[in-house]
Amino acid sequence: MTNKHTLAQFYTPAHLSLRLANLLQNTGSLLEPSCGDGSLLRGVHAAGKDFEHIVGVELDSEKIKGCFGYADSLHNLDFFAYQPDQQFDSIIANPPFLANKAIPQQTKDLTQFKKLETILGGYANLTVYFVLKCAKLLKEGGEMCFIVPDTFFTSTGTAKLNTWLHKHGTVTHLIRFKKSPFLPDATQPVLLFRWVKGDFSYLTDLEVV
Ligand SMILES: C[S@@+](CC[C@H](N)C(=O)[O-])C[C@H]1O[C@@H](n2cnc3c(N)ncnc32)[C@H](O)[C@@H]1O
Repeated sequence: MTNKHTLAQFYTPAHLSLRLANLLQNTGSLLEPSCGDGSLLRGVHAAGKDFEHIVGVELDSEKIKGCFGYADSLHNLDFFAYQPDQQFDSIIANPPFLANKAIPQQTKDLTQFKKLETILGGYANLTVYFVLKCAKLLKEGGEMCFIVPDTFFTSTGTAKLNTWLHKHGTVTHLIRFKKSPFLPDATQPVLLFRWVKGDFSYLTDLEVV
């Protein structure tokens, strides 16, 4: 099988990267934890967002080359092996959508992954692990802007994560699509959300496009 399927390499079209980047409101430091060939980082640049420090992480050593020039530091690593000595103001991501049984063993073996498993129960898909690790890497007041499957807030596999997210912050923005924004390359129905750590307003701006 190719990396496309084992690592869920479905890249974000430029129009969607721009829409997601426009949800970012903070300045300071930005992390992209599965930056692929840089589509979201180019979206951040195209949206005119002015971060002081941009960090990218990506497992595929070939794809990450596409990010050159769009981040101050790039790490060719499994995100669950990434142990930064800082927290971030913002995180933007379209993480790999992989069912629990398809998660590579080397990812599952990583220490940080095991720590997250104690909260999530061990059956969640890889997207869920990415969201939780990112939430933990945010400063108070930090924001996450993510592309996720459209079942993210309703499936039972995400329930524990959603309880955790509700306890620690608010989904301030939710964008749903009548037609998959990945068409014609993929049909996956998705939604975009922005979540802010330490915001307990519980007010969500919902948009259907
Ligand atoms: C859905 S693609 C999105 C890429 C890019 N963020 C975009 O929006 O176009 C997911 C990316 O995650 C990478 N990936 C998969 N597992 C990973 C892991 N454990 N750590 C870091 N990157 C990973 C894949 O190689 C792929 O580039």
